[in-house]
Amino acid sequence: MEQEVEFFTAMRAVVTPLVTASALLQVIDRAERAGMLRELREGSDTTRLAAATGLPLDTVVALCGALVANGIAEPVADGFRLTPDWRAITGGGAFVSLADMIAQSRVIDAMLSGRESAYASLSPEDRSTFAHAVSPNPYSPELVERIRAEIAASPWWSGMTEGGRHLELGCGVAGRMLTVLQAMPRLRAVGVELDPALAEEARRRASDLGIRDRIEIVTGDATTYRTDEPFDFGFWSQWFFPTPSRQAALASLFANVRSGGVVRSPVFGDHGRMADDPHGDEARQYSLNRVMLDGWGVPERTPEQLKAEFEDAGFIDVTIVYHDINDGIYARRP
Ligand SMILES: C[S@@+](CC[C@H](N)C(=O)[O-])C[C@H]1O[C@@H](n2cnc3c(N)ncnc32)[C@H](O)[C@@H]1O
Repeated sequence: MEQEVEFFTAMRAVVTPLVTASALLQVIDRAERAGMLRELREGSDTTRLAAATGLPLDTVVALCGALVANGIAEPVADGFRLTPDWRAITGGGAFVSLADMIAQSRVIDAMLSGRESAYASLSPEDRSTFAHAVSPNPYSPELVERIRAEIAASPWWSGMTEGGRHLELGCGVAGRMLTVLQAMPRLRAVGVELDPALAEEARRRASDLGIRDRIEIVTGDATTYRTDEPFDFGFWSQWFFPTPSRQAALASLFANVRSGGVVRSPVFGDHGRMADDPHGDEARQYSLNRVMLDGWGVPERTPEQLKAEFEDAGFIDVTIVYHDINDGIYARRP
């Protein structure tokens, strides 16, 4: 018979790490909101941290202890400094701000637990929180520069350097389009978004960034959107589209892009890595994402399944590309 594991041994092995990770996220959130992480980027000591954040010295000492013990900060000659990974996470070139990631994690927790259900039934605030965290931060000049270099080097997207028209079906708060438009000054874009509050926020951000004249945000259903002026490039935020809307969304993408136009859609998960290590970080994260997306009524789409979906919709040269920010399916309209 299999040997029974002693309770406390099992607790330390399987429950404590989960509870510790959850507690740590709260402490990171608190340190972030208090401005401690910003101070620690360049290095600081407890006295200066207390003065900068307004927190009592004892509290700063306790928080620094937790940050150091958990690898977020490290002691340096005259105080503490963020470790290299955490400097990258909080740096100017961050894809998404740490505050947005933590806020999104709270919304995801509610959905995974079943307290909230579909994306469409989240409160407007939670939807906005989620939308911010899944799209690049268009206020980061470093990120705009990185996207400029990636697009220029992409065999699919490099035509954008000459200009043209870009369509995004399901644009949310338009982080992606606004980053791409800044990187590609001759490009113009239209985004279609079902949620009026997100669409309005996208317009406001475009004005903020001084590119309102190159972007149109349509509040409406991407599955029925049609225009007489065809697009050269298209993007479909496929993992936000539940089963009943998918075929019509792809038909809309097909109808709105010109012959030879290039389309793209993101895919989830590196399935090669998951197969190599079924209990590794990639597989664990993917399986949890699946629980959330199942709640939204979005079906599983491995790269192969998404490729088949694009081919069924009539696209050609359907190719799976794994390349960091630009992971996804690329294809052409014949
Ligand atoms: C949050 S955005 C994804 C992020 C965005 N692509 C980016 O990278 O910045 C996805 C959006 O698709 C929208 N959406 C889902 N179904 C839609 C439909 N039928 N028509 C228009 N928008 C839709 C959702 O409301 C959601 O805001």
